[in-house]
Amino acid sequence: MEKFVVTGGKPLNGDVNISGAKNAAVAIIPAVILCDEPCQIENIPNISDVSLISRILQQLGATVRRINKSSLYIDPTHIKTSNASTDLVRGMRASYYLLGALLGRCGNAKVALPGGCNFGVRPIDQHLKGFEAMGAGTRLVDGAIIEADAHGALQGTHIYLDVVSVGATMNIMLAATKALGQTVIENAAKEPHIVDLANFLNSMGADIRGAGTDVIKIRGVGYLHGVTYSIIPDQIEAGTYMCAAAATRGCITVNNITPKHLESITAKLREMGVKITEYDEAIKVDATAAPLKRCNIKTMPHPGFPTDCQPQFAALLMSVPGTSIINENVWDNRYQYVGELTKMGAQISVEGRLAIIEGGAPLTAAPVKATDLRAGAAMIVAALQISGTTEISGIQYIERGYEDVVEKFRALGADIKKVYFTGDNEEELGA
Ligand code: EPU
Repeated sequence: MEKFVVTGGKPLNGDVNISGAKNAAVAIIPAVILCDEPCQIENIPNISDVSLISRILQQLGATVRRINKSSLYIDPTHIKTSNASTDLVRGMRASYYLLGALLGRCGNAKVALPGGCNFGVRPIDQHLKGFEAMGAGTRLVDGAIIEADAHGALQGTHIYLDVVSVGATMNIMLAATKALGQTVIENAAKEPHIVDLANFLNSMGADIRGAGTDVIKIRGVGYLHGVTYSIIPDQIEAGTYMCAAAATRGCITVNNITPKHLESITAKLREMGVKITEYDEAIKVDATAAPLKRCNIKTMPHPGFPTDCQPQFAALLMSVPGTSIINENVWDNRYQYVGELTKMGAQISVEGRLAIIEGGAPLTAAPVKATDLRAGAAMIVAALQISGTTEISGIQYIERGYEDVVEKFRALGADIKKVYFTGDNEEELGA
């Protein structure tokens, strides 16, 4: 079993370079399915979710070649099937983007979907509502495969989303890119990766306006040409390192980022007394001076505070004296990690959507597990604050979304290593 072993208690110091955004990459790679020529996608994070979606595209008949660590060449012209109902597809949370992309290319799609996840049910009713409004029939087969069929071309239409959904907004954009006529998405999500997907599609010749606002208009086009496109930086990876710097009362510079995408996180850290300096493509986070202050957090769709940084901030707030309250307003149940933090001595109680953190209790190292990707990031933030040695299991979740996480934290002075445990023996893996 692989684990991270972290000996904390030292302030982080130095520079970290942020990779391309996972949640943009897992939509932009399947978006290439819509293209009529090969594309080159750059600034792709080297994470297991990207390897998985690349292998899925290969299964469909696309040629996918890694040009270097962060660039992929994808030729979708030989894709012959719209059937993506394999186990590989089921293993990927974001496989729902194959529905919009294959529907847009072929007029029909068959896609295996993962079930619920560790923070509750993940319905896709809004995605399906969009496809149906555009003329596709949809049905669930054997409880695990979605079939969608437009019996020809999709027809542009007006779609009002009942909930602000990142996935539904992007999936409908994918399906609408080559539909007949205009599609209007109202109450659309506004995350930076939605703008990134629109920019990518537009660079190939699509006609999408309004991405980044709550009304997106997509006029269908017949042909998309190949492009070279670079994915935006990962705001959540950046937020995680910023949070870790504050948690260890360190001082780091986070490079290769878009500071505008991080405003809700920088505002919260400033409220806590962390000194933040913004540059064009970097942010300096300095928590070395004043004692940190407690704060309350409410997660919201963008531009609100991102739910994907909520667990990491809980791990930070557990060491800040005073009562901090988190209100998780996006997912029904994103507090599975709390039980792990309490093993380290954190005083946190959960009541429905609220987590009440009594910060400043003495913390001790304990074996903990990553229950999902961001929960795993929270375990690292927690472990870095504790002078003992923490073992974190379930690291495959962390590796789904964080490129070179061990190397990046080590470069900031952290004592973290990946080890392979076999019974009583441990063996260090790489750096
Ligand atoms: N929802 C519905 N019906 C739908 C779709 C969503 O009720 O058809 C609800 C969900 O249950 C949730 C809320 O709407 O309560 C928002 O869900 P959304 O669709 O925005 O989430 P998602 O697109 O499935 C993406 C990210 C998540 C991130 C959320 C919210 C990807 C692959 N995943 O999920 O990222 O938490 O947006 O920002 O882009 C992560 O990176 O750790 C992660 C979980």
